[in-house]
Amino acid sequence: MNKTSILGLAFLAITAITVMSSCKDKSKPGLEYAPNMYDAIAYNPDQKNPNFADGKTAQVPPSGTNPVGYARFNYPDTREGYDASSVGIVNPLAVTQKNLEEGKQLYVAMCGPCHGTQGKGNGSIVELGKYPAPPSYSTGVSSRGGAMKDLTDGKIYHTIQYGINLMGSYASQLSPEERWQVVMYVRELQKIQ
Ligand code: HEC
Repeated sequence: MNKTSILGLAFLAITAITVMSSCKDKSKPGLEYAPNMYDAIAYNPDQKNPNFADGKTAQVPPSGTNPVGYARFNYPDTREGYDASSVGIVNPLAVTQKNLEEGKQLYVAMCGPCHGTQGKGNGSIVELGKYPAPPSYSTGVSSRGGAMKDLTDGKIYHTIQYGINLMGSYASQLSPEERWQVVMYVRELQKIQ
């Protein structure tokens, strides 16, 4: 046997022992490559944590704090909240061609199927007879009282935030800025005769 064969045999033997010994006990994976990838040094959110009084890693944020980038909407989902938002907030965005265009695109995709591209309450699912027509933005009457054409920025934003009766909330689909772009576009549709 020459030197290369002896080295080759030794290598094979070591590999075989490593492979076989790693399969013996399924609960022990044997040699692990970069184990910190599996068991990170940092605590996982669902792990026990002795550093906190309640022993949990996932802590509830202190009350009154906002997550980074989160815009709090201070008007509750009540009649009072709706009325207060009507006088308390106005669209912070400037009326520009760009905002109107973006508002239109979002409106057509998210609101159009029910409200109709012109906001007349004749969207595609209404025309299929599958859904009751929402009131027209220009000629209809709000179920909360008053003409739809008189709905303020705040009332429209509040409706997008929480929905109303059969209409669901669009807060998870539209960012605050997108909601305001949609509000801007709805204000245009209120003028259509
Ligand atoms: C699934 C169908 C549907 C979709 C999609 C929808 N709406 Fe509505 N919406 C309705 C219905 C139905 C009403 C009437 C509800 C009522 O008054 O009982 C309504 C009412 C409204 C009102 C009147 C609120 C008031 O105070 O009377 C506004 C404003 C409005 N929607 C805006 C939007 C906007 C903006 C979008 C898109 C982000 C949207 N809606 C998407 C069905 C929908």
